[in-house]
Amino acid sequence: MPSRRARDGRKAPQRSRTRAPLRPTWRIRRATEDDIPGVLECLRAAFDPYRDQYTPIAFRATVLTPQSARQRIGSMVVFVAVDARGTVLGTVSARRGARGRGNLRGMAVRPSHQGTGLAPSLLDRALRHLARENCESVTLGTTAPLRRALRFYERNGFARTRRTLDFFGMPLAIYSRHLGPPRRPAAPTGSGRTPRTKA
Ligand SMILES: CC(C)(COP(=O)(O)OP(=O)(O)OC[C@H]1O[C@@H](n2cnc3c(N)ncnc32)[C@H](O)[C@@H]1OP(=O)(O)O)[C@@H](O)C(=O)NCCC(=O)NCCS
Repeated sequence: MPSRRARDGRKAPQRSRTRAPLRPTWRIRRATEDDIPGVLECLRAAFDPYRDQYTPIAFRATVLTPQSARQRIGSMVVFVAVDARGTVLGTVSARRGARGRGNLRGMAVRPSHQGTGLAPSLLDRALRHLARENCESVTLGTTAPLRRALRFYERNGFARTRRTLDFFGMPLAIYSRHLGPPRRPAAPTGSGRTPRTKA
């Protein structure tokens, strides 16, 4: 039960030196180049179960290499969820594209931390970043083997578009989601409640 400490901001909050709670905890922050080994490990751990369903080039492009990870950190904002020891438990990258469109790539959570709430927190952090960058919508691409990811994105407001790209020999389905308030005047009141869904 939380103690009733004064929270008027006069005292600097005292950091507890007690042991970490049993509940899994993590911190989400921007990655730096120092995180590259951890990001690569996390990607490999998350995507390894799907390796056989990927073309070799598509798999390599997904789990990145030290070089492509460095390029990604240079071209996108890469977020990492880390535990107290600095182990990367999850990652996602975000970038503002043309015409206020945001793009997400490389979402992955270590199997040990899937289904814990970490993935929604990471996604939320990336979406808030894109919203601050004035993105009105966000897209991402995903491949057919990643069924758990498809469910995750649909639960989080993404819908499949008609666009499919080629990802190193694999169809890449493009999902999209609205972000933030529309810039243009909305349709008259009472409309726009039923989103159109497509299988
Ligand atoms: C995609 C990914 C990031 C989603 O993360 P996640 O932790 O699996 O997603 P969720 O938090 O929604 O949890 C998923 C499952 O756990 C369940 N779950 C969530 N929180 C739970 C909880 N507290 N207790 C029990 N179950 C829970 C959900 O119901 C869901 O089950 P379902 O998919 O069978 O319906 C993760 O699965 C992953 O890294 N996958 C491999 C890489 C990948 O596909 N990346 C996407 C690239 S496009």
